[in-house]
Amino acid sequence: MALKITVIGTGYLGATHAAAMAELGFEVLGLDVVPEKIEMLQRGEVPMYEPGLEELLAKHVAGIEGSSGRLRFTMDWAEVAEFGDIHFVCVNTPQKHGEYACDMSYVDAAFASLAPHLTGPALVVGKSTVPVGSAERLGRTLVELAPAGEEVELAWNPEFLREGLAVQDTLHPDRIVVGVRSERSEKLLREVYATPMAEGSPFVVTDFPTAELVKTAANSFLATKISFINAMAEVCEAAGGDVVKLAEAIGYDDRIGKKFLRAGIGFGGGCLPKDIRAFMARAGELGADQALTFLREIDSINMRRRGQMVEMTREALGGGSFLGKRIAVLGATFKPDSDDVRDSPALNVAGQIHLQGGQVTVYDPKGLANARRLFPTLGYADTAAEAVRGAHVVLHLTEWREFRELDPAALGEAVTDRVVLDGRNALDPAVWRAAGWTYRAMGRPAA
Ligand code: UDX
Repeated sequence: MALKITVIGTGYLGATHAAAMAELGFEVLGLDVVPEKIEMLQRGEVPMYEPGLEELLAKHVAGIEGSSGRLRFTMDWAEVAEFGDIHFVCVNTPQKHGEYACDMSYVDAAFASLAPHLTGPALVVGKSTVPVGSAERLGRTLVELAPAGEEVELAWNPEFLREGLAVQDTLHPDRIVVGVRSERSEKLLREVYATPMAEGSPFVVTDFPTAELVKTAANSFLATKISFINAMAEVCEAAGGDVVKLAEAIGYDDRIGKKFLRAGIGFGGGCLPKDIRAFMARAGELGADQALTFLREIDSINMRRRGQMVEMTREALGGGSFLGKRIAVLGATFKPDSDDVRDSPALNVAGQIHLQGGQVTVYDPKGLANARRLFPTLGYADTAAEAVRGAHVVLHLTEWREFRELDPAALGEAVTDRVVLDGRNALDPAVWRAAGWTYRAMGRPAA
């Protein structure tokens, strides 16, 4: 009989995982504790913007005309426990307020709510990003709280999806990593991931701590790459070099690679910043803090870039105060193809300039609603053309395709001064300069 799967938590990770599991042919039941989310998902609507996810839900959510009917949602823990052979825990682990450590309360609550209903054999699979050692502890919680005791097993299966590419990354992962304690768990997970494995995704089997560490190590490496190139950008700025050429040239060395070497205002979002901080906090608890002190530098290089973008803007406006200056900000989300504004470098820069008296108008293709909620005092516009009207300077802070496709000549008609600062090194300087703009970018010579 085909395996039945439940997915606990329906954020970026859980909603995508649930839809992907239905796409792979499994019967899936998703759970969330937020009623509005469940109501939306039951109608096939996605609570956030993620390309391709709405289409995938429509294909599978029960009750939608023409769907496979394999995907349903509930708020009932007993129903979830009764339904599933495998329970994927996909709740989030945000940074604790005022601390580096991550907040495990949603994970702990999910295990505490599910376990008492597990009366027969089941496999619980953690996917959330957690401090190393959590799986060991949560495995004990399951055995203690579940009526089926030792018949309930735990496995750890970190998720590497990128926002904006979540559907593609989930259906075609570049690797599947599982921390298991029994052959039975491994066999079940091989069954779940048989299709991606058949398509060539490597399947790495390991222990709990290694599985947990793979995720934080991968994100730390990516953060390090970005901060490395941003540190090089700082040196280029001081020496008159060009970080874009430098990145291209070092990237031809395939030991280094081209990816994640785009200099600019740095990384943000709900993962990289909080993951490196939680990793440092956990290493400290384990007495291995020295091993990760470099991550403190990675974090501070990253945060410094935001302030440097503010200073570059001030300089472009002639130095001194922002008072009386109109600043157009293109981009609010932490990356393109997402509506996520968590720890967004773009909004941070916009907020700093606003607090210093600048008249800021922000436009973003998908992030405006979330940005308005988070920074209600900033100015907003519904189009790029509207945002730049009367601007003394235009800041390009999130690299949406829409911004690369703007017509600088037409935009130039609406601004007060044709000055564009590229905080993502993603616009074509030649095109903007040909249209009469002063183009400046982080880590590149003035022209
Ligand atoms: C990241 C990891 O890539 C993913 O594997 C993990 O599962 C979750 O965290 P995500 O947060 O969606 O994914 O975004 P990512 O594509 O990694 O970008 C993170 C940030 O780095 C963005 O703000 C992006 O703009 C910035 N970035 C990325 C750069 O500044 N330069 C680059 O070269 C690449």
